[in-house]
Amino acid sequence: MVKSRTKTQARCSACGHVEPRWVGRCPECGAWGTVETEAVSVAPAARSLGSALGAVAVRAIPIRDVSGNAHDRASTGIGELDRVLGGGLVRGSVTLLGGEPGAGKSTLLLQAASCLAASGSRVLYVSAEESTGQIRLRADRLGALADELYLASDTELPTVLALVESCAPDVLVLDSIQTVRDPELGGGAGGVAQVRGCAAALTELAKRRGMATILVGHVTKDGSLAGPRVLEHLVDTVCELAGERHHALRLLTATKHRFGAVGEVGCFEMTGSGLQEVREAGRLFVGEAPDGTTGVAVTLALEGRRPLACEVQALVAPTQLANPRRVVSGLDAARLGLLVAVLEQRAGVALRERDVYASSVGGVRLWEPAVDLALCLAVASSQRDQPVPRALVALGEVGLAGELRLVTSTERRLAEAARLGFRRALVPSAYTGGAFGLSLEHARDLPEALAAGLASGSGPPPLASRSSVAVGVGPGAT
Ligand code: TYD
Ligand code: MG
Repeated sequence: MVKSRTKTQARCSACGHVEPRWVGRCPECGAWGTVETEAVSVAPAARSLGSALGAVAVRAIPIRDVSGNAHDRASTGIGELDRVLGGGLVRGSVTLLGGEPGAGKSTLLLQAASCLAASGSRVLYVSAEESTGQIRLRADRLGALADELYLASDTELPTVLALVESCAPDVLVLDSIQTVRDPELGGGAGGVAQVRGCAAALTELAKRRGMATILVGHVTKDGSLAGPRVLEHLVDTVCELAGERHHALRLLTATKHRFGAVGEVGCFEMTGSGLQEVREAGRLFVGEAPDGTTGVAVTLALEGRRPLACEVQALVAPTQLANPRRVVSGLDAARLGLLVAVLEQRAGVALRERDVYASSVGGVRLWEPAVDLALCLAVASSQRDQPVPRALVALGEVGLAGELRLVTSTERRLAEAARLGFRRALVPSAYTGGAFGLSLEHARDLPEALAAGLASGSGPPPLASRSSVAVGVGPGAT
């Protein structure tokens, strides 16, 4: 027989995190002096194999015999939200909606809640952040009033659970998981132990009642969801609503989805009457600069699986400094530094005594290597004062040797570029796929790409005359 024994461990009194030994600072929540040692009894060693075999009462089922019920989905009534959720909210599923304060989480969920309520589901919207009066005012503004939409404002978890039992909703929206608190658990609202405990209780309730649940989670300064990532494995779906504070555009993406694919992107615009869906995002990130403007180039970036035409702008100016400036907005600063070096060394673009400023348009974050070629074109265009034709899109990753590499989903991006009315595409020579009606120009390396992509280079002339070049959704777009 195995005797139970005790061992010591250390537990953080603020967040409940357990460490094998005492430390001065909790590695989970970062608080100082909150970790205390405690004695715990260790359970007897696992049963012997023989007794475990004797106790087997459940059987595993052959996979073909398991019924694969299609998920029971309810459309949220917001097409772009449904797109990200793979068709709608699944019964009994738990979704975590993250985003920075002010992103529009409460707005989106109130709009979705009223649409769901209008189509026959009973929706309980519990806010631990705003009063019911505030929500009603917002609902008036959004036109989000529906008979089956119930509001409550409370911060105690037991009250929320009781509300669910009495109201029996099909859908629960809780805004936010960081502001509800279970008095039985220690620590303040928003701490790891509280967030984990409350989410676990709500998940259990959602599964038991078959109630679709949406939890709002604030993103912390370091960009992680709900402070700790403890919630991500608990819930079925993790979505994030993101956008620049100074721009109206909001992008909704799913980073985890047990009931469908991740990678879909929903586009919204924040307006005076709430979030409006943007079904045609084609021209949102392309500026209005006329043809002949130097320092601008367009690429097709992938947001999730959705190709979006995005403009990259660059300005090259003489510097006053010993170390010239390399300033970015919406782009990767380290990547710009690298590409500036490649332009200098491999393509003869003199940038050593010049400041380089580079930016995306419309507040979109362009982080993928597919943007490299467009960024190089924009920088070279500004430095050489030669425009990139506005009907041209550039796709390619630039290597340190100045070579061009194919990027993922080039065909899908080109198809979208053609649909949006672009006429020419500059691609790496390794590309052998379809042209989708575009005039394709292949380049092996950066010097070839600059020659083809800058207007007075040696590449073929633009198909359309300067005044009639169609950019974005134009007559020839279909
Ligand atoms: P909100 O949904 O409260 O953001 P979150 O819950 O993510 O913190 O809304 C954020 C911003 O949106 C707020 O600053 C005001 C703005 N807004 C509008 O521009 N139009 C509207 O119709 C609404 C409701 C909000
Ligand atoms: Mg809010």
